[in-house]
Amino acid sequence: MPLLIKNCRLLANGKVFAKNILVKNGKISRITNKELKADKIIDAKNNFVLPGMIDCHVHFREPGLTHKEDFLTGSMAAAKGGITTVLDMPNTIPPTTTISALEEKRRLAKKSVVNYGFHFGATADNLSDIKKAKSIAAVKLYMDYTTGDLKVDDFEVISDIFKASKITVVHAEEERVKDITEILIRNKIKNKIHIAHVSSEKELKYAKQNKIKKQITLEVAPQHLFLNDKDLQSLGAFAEMKPRLKSENDQKALWKGVANGDIDVIATDHAPHLKEEKEQANYPFGVPGVETMLPLLLDAFNNNKISLAQIIDLCCANPAKIFKIRNKGILKEGYDADLTIVDLDKRQAVRNEDLLTKCKWSPFEGKILKGWPVMTIVNGNVVYDNGEVFDIKAKEVSYS
Ligand code: DOR
Ligand code: ZN
Repeated sequence: MPLLIKNCRLLANGKVFAKNILVKNGKISRITNKELKADKIIDAKNNFVLPGMIDCHVHFREPGLTHKEDFLTGSMAAAKGGITTVLDMPNTIPPTTTISALEEKRRLAKKSVVNYGFHFGATADNLSDIKKAKSIAAVKLYMDYTTGDLKVDDFEVISDIFKASKITVVHAEEERVKDITEILIRNKIKNKIHIAHVSSEKELKYAKQNKIKKQITLEVAPQHLFLNDKDLQSLGAFAEMKPRLKSENDQKALWKGVANGDIDVIATDHAPHLKEEKEQANYPFGVPGVETMLPLLLDAFNNNKISLAQIIDLCCANPAKIFKIRNKGILKEGYDADLTIVDLDKRQAVRNEDLLTKCKWSPFEGKILKGWPVMTIVNGNVVYDNGEVFDIKAKEVSYS
């Protein structure tokens, strides 16, 4: 059943175009000036239509921690936030560190309303599973302590993990980033490393050493761009995450990294925990983010802090490229019809009661943002439309 999305504003090569998009069988069939015939017509009302956001770092908590989130609630929240694809992290219970745990997660994720893929967890002794794991986005290695018990310390083991995986996503803070560069150089490893949630000037500096500049890609989370350690005073545990919020100076360095291209990706690190859990003395680390990332970035666009082209590169094109996700990340005939329609002028407050994440809170509660997603289309299906989310199942991504 062909669908025509008319009156779209598109951005390509720095220019804005008025186009119609014809969708057939879940794919972008034509991007055209013509008003082609279709069974269903959506009027984008001259709003910008972006490639669907790809969030390469979420914790949807299934299996084992579904009191915090699951693939349905997490994906509905993602759709509402303009995200059409997520890559889920392995620190679930059981952790995604064995082939059987990966297969079980694959089965559970079928309830997702946005497209999905998986990062496979590394441990000190699962190299044979890592080598067997098929159709994964990357291997995730924890070099620092956080939720879950997946920290690996031994540099020999870490080196073997890097050698066994074409791309390893690493949770590495401060000096650990330097350790990574040294391991790569010492062992002449050429495989790619993606450093999750870079949070400080120091980490940027270590990662951008000339010798390995191209081999390492960097991700930053919105919470490290839009908050700093001063916010801990008012938010307390609700702004405690790993890595912790850093100084205003570090925050500035991250924005500079976004502007000069040192940072490749913005991803949420959506890490929901219940309010009750955050209120305990030994609260868990992490904040939710799939519903607020794009509004925060669009608001930053409206404040001249980032361009739309940069948002598209950082949240769509680059994650697709880095993780080799097929047919996604750009608007192109033949590519999947994953589309995010945004109203750049819509002004609205972040409100806990509006959130679809099971945890129902946000560190950005009360913040008025200008620029919101108004419709999210996944595989040619309208999954989010102005406040309403529809339970239409999505698909697992594939990799080239
Ligand atoms: O703050 C965090 N929370 N950082 C992580 O690395 C993990 C995450 C979680 O799973 O809760
Ligand atoms: Zn994470």
